[in-house]
Amino acid sequence: YALPKIRPQFMQDYIGQTAVREQLSMFIDAAKMRGEHLDHVLLYGPPGLGKTTLANIVAQEMGATLRQTSGPVLDKPGDLAAILTRLEPHDVLFVDEIHRLSPVVEEILYPAMEDFQLDIVIGDGPAAHSVKIDLPPFTLIGATTRAGLLTSPLRDRFGIVQRLEFYNEAELTQIVARSANILGVACEQLGAAEIAKRSRGTPRIANRLLRRVRDFAQVEGQGVITQMIASAALNLLEVDPMGLDKMDRRLLEKIIANFDGGPVGIESMAATVGEERGTIEDVIEPYLVQQGFMIRTPRGRVATTKAYQHLNLVATEKD
Ligand code: ADE
Repeated sequence: YALPKIRPQFMQDYIGQTAVREQLSMFIDAAKMRGEHLDHVLLYGPPGLGKTTLANIVAQEMGATLRQTSGPVLDKPGDLAAILTRLEPHDVLFVDEIHRLSPVVEEILYPAMEDFQLDIVIGDGPAAHSVKIDLPPFTLIGATTRAGLLTSPLRDRFGIVQRLEFYNEAELTQIVARSANILGVACEQLGAAEIAKRSRGTPRIANRLLRRVRDFAQVEGQGVITQMIASAALNLLEVDPMGLDKMDRRLLEKIIANFDGGPVGIESMAATVGEERGTIEDVIEPYLVQQGFMIRTPRGRVATTKAYQHLNLVATEKD
């Protein structure tokens, strides 16, 4: 008995990221017409926007197998060599967090990507020698939160580079409605829209909130996700009407209360909120910047008038 799949399996079921979808579909069609592998793809953007999902879809559409690994998992060159030598022609190798590859592993990747050759040193001391092994033509799909985190030799080896954007409300509403349908929960259009509005432009968050709202609807309502149910559930989850969560608000509050609204450097900010610098940069900030709550200047982060107004409103609502 298999759980229903929330993740779209084919390009036609994938909602949003229109430019990325159209371009990738075309490149896939062209590669298939030529009977070739697809060129290497770099996907970057904030977490939860569908990089892994797209890699799955690309493999499906290529009629190939997806092999999945991640930068931090590939400890030694041999770990990567083991995966590469098991690939079939046109297979897709997905490397998540590709910016976290160790330099020695990255070195192995260069000739593998460029010439489909594995250059590996066997043994050590006087007996050490290098061997070259031919690899099948494959597609590497690398994922990272920011393209700037990659070394330039690695970045230069991707023929296709795509940036994933935050989803708009209409797209997220469609995603929530689709997921609700798969989960078998009744969800009114306005209920789906309410969840969409509060999901930080991110399908992963939308799908997580949908499950929590479903719980609430079951216990506190009649099992139907209406706008009122969604709104009450999300208030309980401390997701505010603009979709900011506790951490978002905390960050803005600290900039305003402790740093006079900024500018404040990333390290000071990380120390003040007790969150890792990388998490702030990759997970929290991008949405706050996109929504105009914060700007990034050369001297640091600054809270905008919109942030002051929003926090005041939220504070007043609570009183
Ligand atoms: N679920 C998560 N992301 C999705 C997307 N982009 N389209 C459809 N369903 C999704």
